[in-house]
Amino acid sequence: MAVLLKKSIAFCLLSAIAFVLCFFHTSHAKLQRFDHPSDPTKSNGSVSFLVVGDWGRRGEFNQSQVAYQMGRIGEKLDINFVVSTGDNFYDNGLSSVQDTAFVESFTKIYTAKSLQKLWYSVLGNHDYRGNVEAQLSPLLRKIDSRWICLRSFIVNSELAEIIFVDTTPFVNGYFPDTEGHTYDWRGIQSRKGYIANLLKDVESALEKSTARWKIVVGHHAIRSVGHHGDTKELEKRLLPILQANNVDFYMNGHDHCLEHISDNDSGIQFLTSGAGSKAWRGDIKGLNGGGLNFFYDGQGFMSVQLTEKDAKIVFYDVFGNVLHRWRTMKQLHQSI
Ligand SMILES: *[C@@H]1O[C@H](CO)[C@@H](O)[C@H](O)[C@H]1NC(C)=O
Ligand SMILES: *[C@@H]1O[C@H](CO)[C@@H](O)[C@H](O)[C@H]1NC(C)=O
Ligand SMILES: *[C@@H]1O[C@H](CO)[C@@H](O)[C@H](O)[C@H]1NC(C)=O
Repeated sequence: MAVLLKKSIAFCLLSAIAFVLCFFHTSHAKLQRFDHPSDPTKSNGSVSFLVVGDWGRRGEFNQSQVAYQMGRIGEKLDINFVVSTGDNFYDNGLSSVQDTAFVESFTKIYTAKSLQKLWYSVLGNHDYRGNVEAQLSPLLRKIDSRWICLRSFIVNSELAEIIFVDTTPFVNGYFPDTEGHTYDWRGIQSRKGYIANLLKDVESALEKSTARWKIVVGHHAIRSVGHHGDTKELEKRLLPILQANNVDFYMNGHDHCLEHISDNDSGIQFLTSGAGSKAWRGDIKGLNGGGLNFFYDGQGFMSVQLTEKDAKIVFYDVFGNVLHRWRTMKQLHQSI
């Protein structure tokens, strides 16, 4: 009797394990969502945020100057949060949760009151050269509660839906790296499956989105005239999904510059903000399939202000001077 009972318990346990395995095998995790409700003190329901990329160098290469101006502009615009487009810690990401680079390149640099908001961050290729699990660890929030970094996720601020996409695994040149760097691919068992699932998740999130503004953020550019130029893999796989779903803005870093390119084939604006520290590469690539509105090779950052009716994009240099300003109205009768 007892043996029979043990056997049936064992059977039940095994079935349960099999069910769980099966479940996780056939359905992949959906993108995690963060609700960032609009600030109730802003009666007009506007949302504003700053975008900076390619920054963590312990204040060097004008990182501190950019941070200071971000604080000033952040105050003026009463920002809701900050977006980081990746390459958060140079040269090789974080080595562990205790890596002092986290405090010395982030906490002790972005000290202004207006920047004490959540920082939504993606990983860049330099972050993948370190310990990715450390940079993604929720333990970092115990050191600095602003830090939100995931591979891919969604921020829903009612007016806008921002989809953060992990673009580094798309790039063929890192498999293997042409310059001999090593990457922490531990979390990505099958590159093909990872990319296919991610694209499926991005597509379904965009299809379901009813937000006024649809924004996608990644580390690598789709279009850029900066040092690295266009990212072919994203142009081929990600861009058609963005074009088919009326995405308003694609924001990225990777090229250490500021730029604004309009897509020829859709309403998408390509916005590069990757100038948080080392810049001045001094080279410019040819432009493919887009209208170039603005390019700046030096340091700076970008602000985004959204309302029901319009969006304002502004680029700033290390002195806080406005380099480029762009505004678009949202059509009243747009197709959903
Ligand atoms: C919305 O309200 C906030 C706070 O009152 C203000 O800073 C911002 O300029 C307003 N935006 C618009 C577009 O009116
Ligand atoms: C810092 O910014 C100034 C003004 O753009 C520039 O002249 C200088 O070269 C920058 N420094 C570095 C190290 O990039
Ligand atoms: C895109 O538009 C720009 C500006 O109108 C034009 O100069 C360029 O030739 C176009 N490129 C393509 C590939 O259609």
